[in-house]
Amino acid sequence: MTNDAALNSIKMALSDRFGEEFAIDPELPGIHELAKIADHRSHRRYSPRSIEPDLLHLLCACALSAPSKSDLQQCDIVVVSDAQIRKGIVATIPDMPWIEDAPAFLVFVGNGERLPLISKLRGKPFPNDHLDQLFNAIVDAAIVLTTFMRAAEAVGLGCCPISAIRDHLQTVSDLLRLPNRVIPVAGLCVGWPAQAGEITPRLSLGTTLVENSYGEHNLAGEIDAYDRRRAELRPYRRQRNVDHWGEARFYGWSEDKARQYAEPTRVDFGSFVRSRGFCLD
Ligand SMILES: Cc1cc2nc3c(=O)[nH]c(=O)nc-3n(C[C@H](O)[C@H](O)[C@H](O)COP(=O)(O)O)c2cc1C
Repeated sequence: MTNDAALNSIKMALSDRFGEEFAIDPELPGIHELAKIADHRSHRRYSPRSIEPDLLHLLCACALSAPSKSDLQQCDIVVVSDAQIRKGIVATIPDMPWIEDAPAFLVFVGNGERLPLISKLRGKPFPNDHLDQLFNAIVDAAIVLTTFMRAAEAVGLGCCPISAIRDHLQTVSDLLRLPNRVIPVAGLCVGWPAQAGEITPRLSLGTTLVENSYGEHNLAGEIDAYDRRRAELRPYRRQRNVDHWGEARFYGWSEDKARQYAEPTRVDFGSFVRSRGFCLD
């Protein structure tokens, strides 16, 4: 890709994403990398081509090179290469066939097991057993997941994170034989994209990019404007739970998210995490 093509690609992606135009210096270093980042899209359709184990290993090493809170290194990656284990996970999420189809499936876990063990091994007290332990491990896992995606996208692979593995935490934890204080944060489908995919528009930067401090703003109006901009580019193909909520004349992002969160989900998450040895106080 030439510099000009990369520049145009960034402009088009970010204009679709945020509904605003960007002035970009064509001589900016790293413009090709920015083009990949701006052009991100989740991929759920893959060609049957497999991923070389050496490449997967390399991408995991790049991902685990991400920064880590206090250098505590509290994320592990589980590569699910065993067909039976994969099948067991797939069975808990029947409405997402891309988990079965993806040439590779990984699980990013927050690992809170090692730190208290280290304190024990070094004969030190551990008076920090509170919510921050879980938070740190989850943040590390999220950063490693994102870094893996960036690395995978750099070589032309496509990914789709899967939080639905948290719908059946006990089953997934049993299948992966996760020790206590090791919590699945998200799965990740990885494969060579079978199609280009689409840019998903985001809330405008006027809503999510804050300078210094939050001021007064018309959040409801901003959400409505986003709903309408997004519906122009990526209208929803189907409405959620029509039996309960009926067919909306205009069905935007906010209606979809409100319907999604009108149903209780993962209400047992806190008790599960406690049962695995974390303190949430
Ligand atoms: C932590 C996380 C969990 C996700 N879980 C799922 C999932 O369970 N199933 C799925 O199909 N997509 C999942 N996604 C993908 C999102 O639906 C997707 O990122 C979002 O719709 C925006 O689309 P884009 O990534 O193409 O910009 C997840 C994304 C993230 C970051």
